[in-house]
Amino acid sequence: MLQETISRDQPARRWQDYVVPQCWEAFTEDDHAVWDLLFARQVELLGSRVVTPFFDGIDLLKLSHPGVPDVGGLNAILTPRTGWMTVAVPGLVPDDIFFAMLSERVFPVGNFIRTRDQLDYLEAPDCFHDMFGHIPMLAHHDFAEMAEHIGRLGSAAIAAGEGHRAARLYWHSVEFGLAREGGELKILGAGLASSFGESHFSLESERVERLPFSVERAVNTPYKHDAFQPRYLVSESLEATIAEVLALTPESLLAL
Ligand SMILES: [Fe+2]
Repeated sequence: MLQETISRDQPARRWQDYVVPQCWEAFTEDDHAVWDLLFARQVELLGSRVVTPFFDGIDLLKLSHPGVPDVGGLNAILTPRTGWMTVAVPGLVPDDIFFAMLSERVFPVGNFIRTRDQLDYLEAPDCFHDMFGHIPMLAHHDFAEMAEHIGRLGSAAIAAGEGHRAARLYWHSVEFGLAREGGELKILGAGLASSFGESHFSLESERVERLPFSVERAVNTPYKHDAFQPRYLVSESLEATIAEVLALTPESLLAL
């Protein structure tokens, strides 16, 4: 009863309240040098191990331009293309806010970058993870639609007290998914594409499970957020996963 009174009296949380200025000019020379180091290292490491639209997006969005990208410049290309927009946030946002952002084609990117002595260890996703890992795929029209759809599914699932279902779906596709492309196993997820240690591990380790992706399996497969994954879900193709996710309704997500 008390909680109901409190929640009625408090205004609903808005995703806009979590947005901060990126303050691009506050990034130091060393911050930009860390971005360049991470970028060069990761591009070389990935080679052709990532789905094709990823590097298409890197090129299209001019992410290889030296230094930390500024969100304004990124949006000037991204928004006219797919309607997505990046906004700066100071760190992880709550799940309800995150899904609300996705449902409006808004992607939060950290307004900070890791330090040189923490190149491979991150307590919270920084702008390299967010901008290098996530944003390229949002330039792909069908993936862009899928990401928005996951946002709507997530908001509905949270409202039904079942937010973990959407979180798992997101995790096993957008964040840590693998996908076949031209018969080869490739990285799909941003958490893998942006990771120095886990990108090769996910494709090559014999100590993990790789199971065929389905939305039902994704929704029912827990994940680890503080260690390498013990199992990865492998899409038959990026297109197949997009089609399967887009076919999900909030009701069918809750019934899986
Ligand atoms: Fe991420």
